Amino acid sequence: MGQTASLDSWKAGLVTRSGEETEHAAEAFAALLPPDTVLALSGDLGAGKTTFVRGLARGLGYAGDVTSPSFPLLNVLEGRRRLLHVDAFRLKAPDAFDGLMVWDLAKTPWNLVVEWPERVEGRLPVDAWRMEAAMLPDGTHRYRLTTPS
Ligand SMILES: Nc1ncnc2c1ncn2[C@@H]1O[C@H](COP(=O)(O)OP(=O)(O)OP(=O)(O)O)[C@@H](O)[C@H]1O
Ligand SMILES: [Mg+2]
Repeated sequence: MGQTASLDSWKAGLVTRSGEETEHAAEAFAALLPPDTVLALSGDLGAGKTTFVRGLARGLGYAGDVTSPSFPLLNVLEGRRRLLHVDAFRLKAPDAFDGLMVWDLAKTPWNLVVEWPERVEGRLPVDAWRMEAAMLPDGTHRYRLTTPS
């Protein structure tokens, strides 16, 4: 890649060849993601969701490590914005999302990124941004963005 991807190239589907490349691209994506928005980050196991969040968090000014939220299922990453990172994979029912008190923690400026958003459908705002990660047959990973019209 080498250069910063535009919103349109994310919408067309950005292809990366390594986890490191994804982290760099996601770090730059932080500047395209408006504050106080949700990013629903879908994709199969190992599609590269947490890797993407690692770069996104760095782009939002968070200097620490990013690990997959397992227990608790929510991590709060404090940078220039507060990044709330939820992995909904183990949530038994959408109701369980309410127990995380995510919206109480959403202090402006914030972003919420949710891995496995299909587990909490109906809990996320209709104006959420959506990023779909996929591993392609040749081993590269593709990230495709959808934003509300
Ligand atoms: N181009 C790439 N983009 C992202 N990750 C890649 C890429 N190439 C290889 N990888 C590797 O694929 C793995 C992706 O793991 P990651 O934890 O990010 O996936 P995930 O989608 O969060 O999985 P899970 O569903 O278990 O949460 C990492 O080990 C990463 O280094
Ligand atoms: Mg993950």
